[in-house]
Amino acid sequence: MAKDAVAIYPGSFDPITNGHIDLVKRTLRVFDSVIVAIASNPGKDGSLFSVAERLQMVGEVFKGFKGRVRADSFEGLLVNYAERKRATVIIRGLRAVSDFEYEFQMAMMNHRLKPKLETFFMMTGESEFYISSRLVKEVVSLGGDVSGLVPAKVLKKLSQKFKSLGAQR
Ligand code: PNS
Repeated sequence: MAKDAVAIYPGSFDPITNGHIDLVKRTLRVFDSVIVAIASNPGKDGSLFSVAERLQMVGEVFKGFKGRVRADSFEGLLVNYAERKRATVIIRGLRAVSDFEYEFQMAMMNHRLKPKLETFFMMTGESEFYISSRLVKEVVSLGGDVSGLVPAKVLKKLSQKFKSLGAQR
């Protein structure tokens, strides 16, 4: 196991899905600890959940992991955040061919910005490869059932969120 290497798993996590969780668990087979880093893009992104809500959900999901998984958020460039955390590795999941171009561009750009920072890709688990936060939100917003694709607590937050958004309209 890469004992001293800090791995960062960055993303929007809006919200965290079982696909993300599978990836974190598998990362822990190789790295001692992982920081799940929620990108905060104030005023610019169209996230459903606030960073505080996302942090709370991620923290809750991994609370039984004996400190090996930390939830955090960051603003600005990922490579600068990684440097502040003394991380040497960025973890990203690859679901399908469609992810590849975007991921390849990001990895190349990050490498150009900080050549010592490596991006490691993990193939998403076979039962999770079609799950995405975007699809989960769309299905829930249209009344569909996503149980089994996100943790029960996240499922509850999703239905509360869409209820409160519906009530505002
Ligand atoms: O879950 P996502 O939306 O695919 O994650 C994308 C994320 C957050 C990893 C990416 O947008 C990012 O790193 N944002 C931070 C700003 C940054 O460093 N941008 C340049 C990336 S090359």
